[in-house]
Amino acid sequence: MNSLAGCCKKDFSTLKVKIYGKRLVYLDSAATSLKPESVIESITDFYRNHNANIHRGVYLLSQEATQLYEKTRSKLKKFFNTPEEGEIIYTSGTTGAVNLVASSWGRTNLGEGDVIVLSEMEHHSNLVPWQIVAREKGAELAYIPVTDSGELDLEEYKRIFKNHSVKIVAVNHISNVLGTLNPVEEIVRQAHMYGALVLIDGAQSAPHIPVDISRMDPDFYTVSGHKMLGPTGTGFLYGRRGILKSMPPYQSGGDMIEEVSLENATWNELPYKFEAGTQNIAGFVGLGAAVDYLSRMGMDRVRKHGEELSVKAREKLSSIKGMKFYGPEKGSPGGVLSFNIEGAHPHDIGTILDSEGIAVRTGHHCAQPLMKRLSVPATARASFYIYNDEQDIESLYSGIHKAVEVLKLGVK
Ligand SMILES: Cc1ncc(COP(=O)(O)O)c(C=O)c1O
Repeated sequence: MNSLAGCCKKDFSTLKVKIYGKRLVYLDSAATSLKPESVIESITDFYRNHNANIHRGVYLLSQEATQLYEKTRSKLKKFFNTPEEGEIIYTSGTTGAVNLVASSWGRTNLGEGDVIVLSEMEHHSNLVPWQIVAREKGAELAYIPVTDSGELDLEEYKRIFKNHSVKIVAVNHISNVLGTLNPVEEIVRQAHMYGALVLIDGAQSAPHIPVDISRMDPDFYTVSGHKMLGPTGTGFLYGRRGILKSMPPYQSGGDMIEEVSLENATWNELPYKFEAGTQNIAGFVGLGAAVDYLSRMGMDRVRKHGEELSVKAREKLSSIKGMKFYGPEKGSPGGVLSFNIEGAHPHDIGTILDSEGIAVRTGHHCAQPLMKRLSVPATARASFYIYNDEQDIESLYSGIHKAVEVLKLGVK
């Protein structure tokens, strides 16, 4: 069927877990991916053989820990092809990264009447932090509308610049609900023409498609490491060094300082100015192993696999009576498929699927404004990743049939 089918299930021990005695069909990777053995192994190896705090010790163990922690930063720079003038700041994920920018850059640079451009398909993580800073600074929010086919309305986007003083644009690269791949390069070009900055939320793109930050040219790019095979509590903010340098610290305390007196403090160099306190050291070592795993696989293959599975799943499920999909018809490079079945609440579908060992997400997916745009309270969402295959689509199909029978909806 495709270049990756089932090739790596053996690397993911969670797939051996039985759910109510049944095979686990994990279709919730957009929430968090499973972790391969090599990632789990790298974490246990860190705790067993290298555990120490970083950047502080003159002793060998601390130096080893520091090296392992910093090695991941170099791997990430290469993997995402970050430009020379860019920095990677470790965060807990995309939420941590957006909050850092909204709080530090936003509080310093936004004022009365300035406009922050977001879209109707944003995750709450790339929405609420901006609402908070906008309220505080008297700035305004403008939204790029979502078309009926689940894409960003670029004409409307361009129009916003004509009569607003846009300071920053913050949009996702791939929607976690619709699976839409947004034209971020065009979005960046347009904003830069008007002197506005751009933050791209890469939570759903980084795990699935080759991302070349140098080519995309955003000012900020955010990643959730735990969605790309890495440990939970890991992610990063990419930012242009010049902008990051001009931003005040976000959190303060140990490690982010250069010098402290009783009256004052000066800040450490980048990226440490934004990495206050003891970090998730073992987690970032694990993220390095995740990057190695994806690099070995090749992101072109990863993209092809997710896209093919989302297309096949859509084809297969479309024969179910009352099935309605949300998102572009051509399938999703992010491996996402959102749907509803007429007459059924998605939570009921999800609960019945769970009884069959099938894990899908149901609800508003932290995108309530998008649910409003789609005129639904919630959807069910299957999200595919490298360890899924056609057998998983068959299981999903049978599971939904069972749900339809149990809920007495009638089958075509
Ligand atoms: C598009 C998008 N942005 C942001 C986030 C938040 O990521 P995290 O919870 O890792 O901070 C998610 C998580 O699902 C997401 O899908």
